[in-house]
Amino acid sequence: MAAKVPSIDDLVKTASSAFEARFKSKPMLAGCAPGRVNLIGEHTDYNAGFVFPMALPMVTVMVGRKTEGSTCRVETLTQGADEPTYTEFPNKGLSPGSPKWANYVKGVVDKFPGEVPAFDAVIVSSVPLGGGVSSSAALEVATFTFLEQVSGTTVEQLKKAVACQKAEHDFAGMPCGIMDQFISVMGRTDHAVLIDCRSCEGRLVPMKDPNVRVLITNSNVKHELTGSEYPTRRRQCETVAATMGKKSLREATDADLEAYKDQLDAETYRRVRHVITEIKRTDDAAAALEKNDYVLFGKLMVDSHNSLKDDYEVSCKELDLLVEAAMEMKSEGVYGSRMTGGGFGGCTVTLLKKEAVDKVIESMQNRYKGSGHSATFYVVAPSEGARPLNL
Ligand code: ADP
Ligand code: GAL
Repeated sequence: MAAKVPSIDDLVKTASSAFEARFKSKPMLAGCAPGRVNLIGEHTDYNAGFVFPMALPMVTVMVGRKTEGSTCRVETLTQGADEPTYTEFPNKGLSPGSPKWANYVKGVVDKFPGEVPAFDAVIVSSVPLGGGVSSSAALEVATFTFLEQVSGTTVEQLKKAVACQKAEHDFAGMPCGIMDQFISVMGRTDHAVLIDCRSCEGRLVPMKDPNVRVLITNSNVKHELTGSEYPTRRRQCETVAATMGKKSLREATDADLEAYKDQLDAETYRRVRHVITEIKRTDDAAAALEKNDYVLFGKLMVDSHNSLKDDYEVSCKELDLLVEAAMEMKSEGVYGSRMTGGGFGGCTVTLLKKEAVDKVIESMQNRYKGSGHSATFYVVAPSEGARPLNL
């Protein structure tokens, strides 16, 4: 069975009563921001390529109020965050520290373009933590949206995403691309967004066919490799782009890759091949979706997975098994399936016919349980990006 996503109203109620219990007053302001799933276009954002994500119905909510003085007091109710779940820090002169979860909040306070007053806040979330659907970006963008309200300074979408990305770089030590923060800011109900990470423009692509569903499967495994392998991949790509005399691998063609083949070791050659082919696949996939060509879209998803597995080497046996289990149900109505996000665990994303959902979930779970794990499933529709909430 697919997991039920709590309503935003319920999240706000939970956060508000926790706020009253802790701070003995009522919250005045609230903001929320969604997690994301990337349909295709993996490890292309930091290569100035295309990505094609959608915002999720799962969100992070921050409620609170402005206070006097210079101390920010924040509590998270989210299970899985490191202890202590309540912390205090000054409203300026910040640096990363402990607990780790607060670094995302502090980072955004630090990067906010304007005076941040002291505040009290409570955070609650329906985005699975550390599961590859960007709970961290949801936390950053929810914090930013909350700060816009306490400070009275509204910031343009791209600047907002870039400030949150910078917070992740400098306060969480993760040199991520722009995708997660951007889609959390600019997601739209019933649309996936083709983001060109070179021009930083997003094109909305309608996605509301009543017969088609997006299924997210959380493998519930996370291999520690993510932290070290991601920066390594990023560096490899940047080094090759520089060798080719290009600003980024977005500018590189198949012909360039062949021309430089002798100068690249076999591993680096495969890494670059993934990036070049994935950028093209993503553009093609958005065009296929615009024509409701789900069969082509599904094929491109599987090609993307194989490229991430064999060329970019960021998949793992659990994700491969889940993709294989989904594709075994092709005749039942599965169009395509792939790992999504940074890799080494986290989630897969599957495009399928509505009527196939229950059978596919059951079959995938049976296969996965056979390997000693249990997966969590979410059937998701493209949802709205970050926004203030009425209390
Ligand atoms: P993800 O793919 O979910 O973004 P990361 O490992 O990059 O995974 O980030 C997860 C981390 O972000 C958590 O371990 C925690 O420190 C922080 N985080 C995310 N959401 C929350 C939240 N609602 N409350 C507290 N911390 C959070
Ligand atoms: C994420 C990262 C994104 C993107 C993705 C891979 O973890 O935050 O910016 O690079 O991996 O497509």
